[in-house]
Amino acid sequence: MKKKFVVANWKMNGDSRANAELLAALTPEICGLEEVNIVICPPAPYIPQVLDILAGTGIKVGAQNLSHETKGAFTGEISANMLKDLGCRYVLVGHSERRSLYGENDELVAEKFEAALSAGLVPILCVGESLEERKSLITHQVIARQLQAVIEKVGIQRIAEGVIAYEPVWAIGTGETATPAQAQAVHFEIRKLLGKQATSVARNMSLLYGGSVRAENAAELFAQADIDGGLIGGASLDADAFRTICRSA
Ligand code: PGA
Repeated sequence: MKKKFVVANWKMNGDSRANAELLAALTPEICGLEEVNIVICPPAPYIPQVLDILAGTGIKVGAQNLSHETKGAFTGEISANMLKDLGCRYVLVGHSERRSLYGENDELVAEKFEAALSAGLVPILCVGESLEERKSLITHQVIARQLQAVIEKVGIQRIAEGVIAYEPVWAIGTGETATPAQAQAVHFEIRKLLGKQATSVARNMSLLYGGSVRAENAAELFAQADIDGGLIGGASLDADAFRTICRSA
């Protein structure tokens, strides 16, 4: 059975006061939504604060990144075990900002995915094409390459322990959302690709859409057959918008 998700990616935003205010405005309403898994991914230093505030609400907490290494001399890095130890359940892996700004390639992303699974975290694997790649009509090849790197690393059965988020790079933070039909078409392809290797994985995998999801477009996106929720950046910092998005799911 596919689970519905709404995942908030706060990126590098917030501070103790703003976080507390935002969560206070959100929790009374969204913690009652039992059919959807809601995950908040704050910046790493605020994970303990957010865990504390959300204790007992059923809302889960995730990290935005992790190291592919387990321990040792890796200054500034955070391991999967540390996140697990804090109480995180989820972690974003391969977000396009990590890929493009911090040079994370498919291989490193696959290693991070495996590190998360090994520690008992649920990795949320982000895939997506750039505008140039879409214009060159190679969207499906790009997504297939990104997915295959992870499948080769962990195997088709274990990829199902994670979640996949399709985020067209040209739609992230730009206000330009993929149309529901454009998003559905890629989600369908992703499910087909998984299905060629294991039909049960294709059937059960939660596929989220991300990229300028807003209160106004969430319901239509989430209504598509192969879209099981969303990964929300900008709109997750606005309590009203995020509540509406959670309800839409
Ligand atoms: P956006 O970001 O909703 O602000 O476009 C989505 C994301 O980067 O996950």
